[in-house]
Amino acid sequence: MQKILDLISEEVKKAFEAADYDAELGRVTLSNRPDLCEYQCNGAMAGAKKYHKAPLVIAQDVAEKLQQSDVLAEVSAVAPGFLNMKVKESFVSGYLRNMKDAEKFGLQMPEKPKKIIIDYGGANVAKPLHVGHLRPAIIGESVKRICRYAGHDVIGDIHMGDWGLQMGLVITELQKRQPDLIYFDDSYEGEYPAEAPFTISELEEIYPTASAKSKEDAEYKAAAMEATYKLQSGVRGHRALWNHMMRVSVDDLKKNYDNLDVEFDLWKGESDVQELIPGMVEMMKKGGYAYLSDGALVVDVKEETDTKEMPPCMILKSDGASLYNTTDLATIMDRMEKYRPDRMIYVTDKRQELYFEQVFRCARKTGLVNADTEFIHICNGTMNGKDGKPFKTRDGGVMRLENLIGDINEEMLRKIRENAETKGYEVNEQEAEQTAKVVGLAAVKYGDLSNQASKDYIFDIDRFTSFEGDTGPYILYTIVRIKSILNKYIEMGGTLTGTVIQEAVNDSEKSLMLEVAKFNTVMEAAYEELAPHRICAYIYDIANAFNHFYHETKILAEEDAQKKSGWIALLILTRDILEVCIDLLGFSAPERM
Ligand code: ARG
Repeated sequence: MQKILDLISEEVKKAFEAADYDAELGRVTLSNRPDLCEYQCNGAMAGAKKYHKAPLVIAQDVAEKLQQSDVLAEVSAVAPGFLNMKVKESFVSGYLRNMKDAEKFGLQMPEKPKKIIIDYGGANVAKPLHVGHLRPAIIGESVKRICRYAGHDVIGDIHMGDWGLQMGLVITELQKRQPDLIYFDDSYEGEYPAEAPFTISELEEIYPTASAKSKEDAEYKAAAMEATYKLQSGVRGHRALWNHMMRVSVDDLKKNYDNLDVEFDLWKGESDVQELIPGMVEMMKKGGYAYLSDGALVVDVKEETDTKEMPPCMILKSDGASLYNTTDLATIMDRMEKYRPDRMIYVTDKRQELYFEQVFRCARKTGLVNADTEFIHICNGTMNGKDGKPFKTRDGGVMRLENLIGDINEEMLRKIRENAETKGYEVNEQEAEQTAKVVGLAAVKYGDLSNQASKDYIFDIDRFTSFEGDTGPYILYTIVRIKSILNKYIEMGGTLTGTVIQEAVNDSEKSLMLEVAKFNTVMEAAYEELAPHRICAYIYDIANAFNHFYHETKILAEEDAQKKSGWIALLILTRDILEVCIDLLGFSAPERM
């Protein structure tokens, strides 16, 4: 379907043309004086010079031509030459009826869908997820869903950190604690046990302990590097331990991401592309891109137009070891081969901005990708505490993701109980806990996504979990309210099928309709800009418009059956759109709250 603003523009363009002016002057925008009109056109002002006429005269000529319009109800030319407009109720209701009948509410699908790989989450094996992993997971998941809904072929990949020093650290600490484990016996040739010699909670304690030790003890650090080297060069026992770590850790990661409603299509990691590295390095050398600098193998990625420092991209360290970027480059190569993506999107903290710039340039320069393969890095800002500094636990430590979610759910449960108490109804404990989880997730995700991804924001539990204001719970509350009206309508003997949206009978209803009608405009922008916050702003406006309408209209008490069922039809469309939107943000609504 065409966007509502385009349809209105078309109508005004025709009028400019009919009055012998350039049609292009007829572009319409949302009014910046909503108290006076719904839409406006400033084309007359732009045309004044060309036609040597007062803008007001041009505006009047055009307004004249719009008197019989099927789209516009009121058109006035006002000084110095604005066209102020309101649309006809019948035009809006007709537009909404078409939306209701159309696939994806009339969102235009791309002629040629893009193949998109989105790399997000950034989890590391054997290390617990912490607050820093929250934003890339939430943003990535939403961007993935937005691209998919826009009609593209999207693959989400977690790209686990599973090949670095952290693995060697865990192995070293294990060996210190249990030197007799069969994995450390080099002469052993039999099968290794199927059961891991540690549980997830042990693993989660081992890594931080080992990491702390290695910072103080050079010998320990050397042992960890040695263990990493042994693992990477395929020593059997180390490999077997690595497999255990992978299984235990990935199971736990899956559980955590499940709780966040974050779902990856691929669970690949750094380890998956190790075998590709030698060939890739060879290619970079042969192509004359990579050269030795202080013993390390590097590729220059500086460009003449650079105004900032742009260090070369290091491919191999002087001891021949590969690095984080070597793996990322090999992953790009692998993805091109296996999936031929048109576009690769990465979501990480903004501290990796320069890093990805280097990697992208290196991949392009060395021909790992096609000239038209797109790279996009979505850098997220930091989630801060109320003190404006990166979010920490009360005693200043790194907050585990699980604990953060636990805190939110607890606060949400408290609010749900409190709400029930003030409203005077009983809460079923089990249901309340379930609801608290659903609403808590909405609170966190909406609190995050309603900000532009690149901006820092303050994590404010109290504000995020509030039922009022620009929050997730407020949006869910609105959806639940609509559902409850629809349920009551059914209880009163009404049916939802076959209801048809009617012309608005008052301003608040029309405002709601005009908000809802922006759907495809918003979705296109959210996809083009990869910006979930666009959707947040849209549903917040709808929720406000709906609640305003609800307070002004006695929907269920209405005697005129056609009017009433028209409202029901509008409610159904509003609910459906809100539910699609929150799904794109990565959360859902409960039946009651
Ligand atoms: N595991 C990395 C980290 O903890 C993030 C991975 C981001 N993705 C990538 N392809 N490099 O920082």
